[in-house]
Amino acid sequence: MENKKNGFASGIGFILSAAGSAVGLGNLWGFPYKTAANGGAAFVLIYIICVLFIGFVTMLCEFHIGRRSAANPVTAYKRINKNIGWFGLVGVLIPTFIICYYSVLGGYTVKYTLNSFSGNAGLLGSFSTNVGEVILFTAIFIVLALVIIMGGVKDGIEKMSKVLMPVLFLILLSVAVYSLCLGEGVREGLNFYLNPDFSNIGFSAVLAAMGQAFFSLSLGMGTMISYGSYTGREINIVKSTAMICIFDTFVALLSGLAIFPAVAHFDPSLLENAQGLTLMFSILPEVFNSMGAFGQIISFLFFAMVVIAALTSVVSLVEVATQFIIQRFKSDRKRSALGVVLVCFAVSIPVGMSLGRVAIAGERGISIFGMDLLTFFDEVTNTVLMPVCAFFACLVIGWIIKPKNAMAEIEESGTPLGFLRKIFPIMVRFVTPLLIIVVEIGGVVTKIRAGQWFVVVAAYALLAIAAVAYFIFCKNAETGTNADEELKTAK
Ligand code: ALA
Repeated sequence: MENKKNGFASGIGFILSAAGSAVGLGNLWGFPYKTAANGGAAFVLIYIICVLFIGFVTMLCEFHIGRRSAANPVTAYKRINKNIGWFGLVGVLIPTFIICYYSVLGGYTVKYTLNSFSGNAGLLGSFSTNVGEVILFTAIFIVLALVIIMGGVKDGIEKMSKVLMPVLFLILLSVAVYSLCLGEGVREGLNFYLNPDFSNIGFSAVLAAMGQAFFSLSLGMGTMISYGSYTGREINIVKSTAMICIFDTFVALLSGLAIFPAVAHFDPSLLENAQGLTLMFSILPEVFNSMGAFGQIISFLFFAMVVIAALTSVVSLVEVATQFIIQRFKSDRKRSALGVVLVCFAVSIPVGMSLGRVAIAGERGISIFGMDLLTFFDEVTNTVLMPVCAFFACLVIGWIIKPKNAMAEIEESGTPLGFLRKIFPIMVRFVTPLLIIVVEIGGVVTKIRAGQWFVVVAAYALLAIAAVAYFIFCKNAETGTNADEELKTAK
């Protein structure tokens, strides 16, 4: 389990890297508008309960599954039982799909950062339908991730996270303080964001909170298994899990404090439309524009912060597939990462075209049953596949390895469990998996009711494809461990 050479060198490096994976577009933009739309502080309360009951337990399970094998997700599950190695292949496919749309959004944030001093107001329509520019900025964003991944875990991911995560936090804090000091409109913005409204809390709000917790904490997407595999005895995974959950939630909350007071200060009537792409790429640029020259600096800082958040997240997604390719095909890191990035970039081109044409301009373009590709990929992974993948992690720890053995392994590997020893078994066997089943069924029923059955069909077809591919290509083949890369590097 000692994995010094190829793994995280320090506890803080690991925490910042995993927090970097967690803190992303989901926090900076998904959380604020979902909170505002679903009952304000009442939603925050439910979200925190989801983080405690689903997020913490699932993350700990994923870290442990990775750490006990010191290998990619496929080998990690395979070592538990040869017939469930395909759970790991699902965990490799999900992040690969996410990269294909996340990079397009990452490209948007790079464009908005660089364009801050020329003014981003009104840019969304012209930029999003300019295919060449969208491809160019997607490429810039994905190449940044590639360079970091090529540096390896310790010298690439960890070093980057140690520098960028504190920068991100400082920028966010500064923008939030600035926004809260704007005077007029601040109270209205805060009211819109956080005013508790329990009458707005129905099953759909609970589902939104659960889904948000999965995406925001990077659960059910292989990344925490992969990052966990790079931790040695010196890293306390329980404390790390707690700190990552707290940091991720804090950043999400702070983001709303940075956004809504500023929007209300500029024009309270915009609050009603402050959602999704419009909020980030249309409303906020208007707000920054209204602040004059100083607004350009704020815009630059804000979008640079979003680039950092998106980059540290996409790096973790690319790492999962890269780690698998390195170990399954005994290939080197640079070539493997390049292969992953090229495939994802190729897929991101139609995704970017579809987003601009279909979702933003409302024209005819590449779509699946009328749904733009970004939304399609997002729904397939978020709504259906991620809960399944997170469920696998709990199932394995709770029912296959069994909590007693898992806890003994965690403690033997240098992490005392303390009071968790009492509650972990019941959480991992019953509470968390049952809640995940609720998320899954709720998500599937919602999609079918909305006539989006094709999302569900595609997601389950992908599960079946992963299982078949595993039994043909991986079950009886050597799928490798982290030591393979160390040996290669040592040669
Ligand atoms: N956890 C990452 C995010 O929130 C994927 O964007």
